[in-house]
Amino acid sequence: MNTKPNSSRPSDLAARVLRLLRPDVQGLHAYAVQPSAGLVKLDIMENPFGLPPVLQQALGERLGRVALNRYPAERIEDLKRALALHARLPEGCELMLGNGSDELISLLTLALDVPGNVVIAPVPGFVMYEMSAKLQGVRFVGVPTTADFDLDLPAMLAAIEQHQPALIWLAYPNNPTANLWDASAVERVIESAPGLVVMDEAYQPFAERDSMAWMQHYEHVLVMRTMSKFGLAGVRIGYLMGRAALVRELDKLRPPFNVSVLNAEAALFALEHAHEYEQQAGLIRSERTRVLRALTQQTGVRVFDSQANMVLLRLPEGCDPARVFSGIKARKVLVKNVSGLHPLLAGCLRVTIGTPEENTLLLAAFEAALQESRP
Ligand SMILES: Cc1ncc(COP(=O)(O)O)c(C=O)c1O
Repeated sequence: MNTKPNSSRPSDLAARVLRLLRPDVQGLHAYAVQPSAGLVKLDIMENPFGLPPVLQQALGERLGRVALNRYPAERIEDLKRALALHARLPEGCELMLGNGSDELISLLTLALDVPGNVVIAPVPGFVMYEMSAKLQGVRFVGVPTTADFDLDLPAMLAAIEQHQPALIWLAYPNNPTANLWDASAVERVIESAPGLVVMDEAYQPFAERDSMAWMQHYEHVLVMRTMSKFGLAGVRIGYLMGRAALVRELDKLRPPFNVSVLNAEAALFALEHAHEYEQQAGLIRSERTRVLRALTQQTGVRVFDSQANMVLLRLPEGCDPARVFSGIKARKVLVKNVSGLHPLLAGCLRVTIGTPEENTLLLAAFEAALQESRP
């Protein structure tokens, strides 16, 4: 074998591999995670609080005793039981686990990968619904919200009538707009849906209402939650709840060991200390009120109501969102410029609620960046 380095070889290999890959994959944009080293990270709705040192130590000891030489087994069932209790899973329903709810989105889409099937979601919404559909070759139809980001009910009903969707995604609260949909509009959508409706409750710890009653009442409604926004984004635990017969079918698609023993143990530990995370969520909710009020006081800024751990705002007419974003970043705070994600989001930035100190830094950085960018 010739082991001499050959400068033409890597590009030959790359060209050969590219010919083997699906052309549509080559046309996709990878999910972008913004580099954040040295910045106050208020861009992707993480819980800003860690565990107190005594709990960190207790968790470390627990994880040290986990049998890493074994495949995940009964502990996964323990976690499912603990989550069922935590979520008050109704009688007759079951729960399946995902490696984050991202994996559940992908598995649900895979389950519906039948020629002719369509999935629908309001847009702007969570990008992974469309991304998963594209990856699976399932048709995705985005239905624009109203200008105030509520469900456009006539447009949703028309899309349901026209496309007879196999699945409708309703993020409740929605991302990046942070709002809960009007409850009577959700009910009309559920009652008109010919297929499944998945209520994606990633932000449930920060919201006034949830969808459990709809799941109890309507057989075709599933509720998906995640431990990410609760405080375990790094642990990757999502869960999907619905009628047992349906969840059992979907569970067949799950890779058998998709949740690691370390993730399961960390999640069990967190659920045993749920009061700690509930206090954190309470503080985030009260900080949200403070941030919302302070942002509203900036002349010309429109701040949208939030039921999540993020706030969406629209900059005054004539302010360049990229410039304001860079001005905030120059002051060491990272937010998300969502203005290019959808026409309805023109001029919008999304900020995650951080610790009280982080939020104070954000507000000062925002005010300064805004002054610099005013026309
Ligand atoms: C609405 C919504 N659903 C699901 C997710 C994915 O969460 P996970 O971390 O569980 O994959 C997010 C993440 O931001 C989200 O905003």
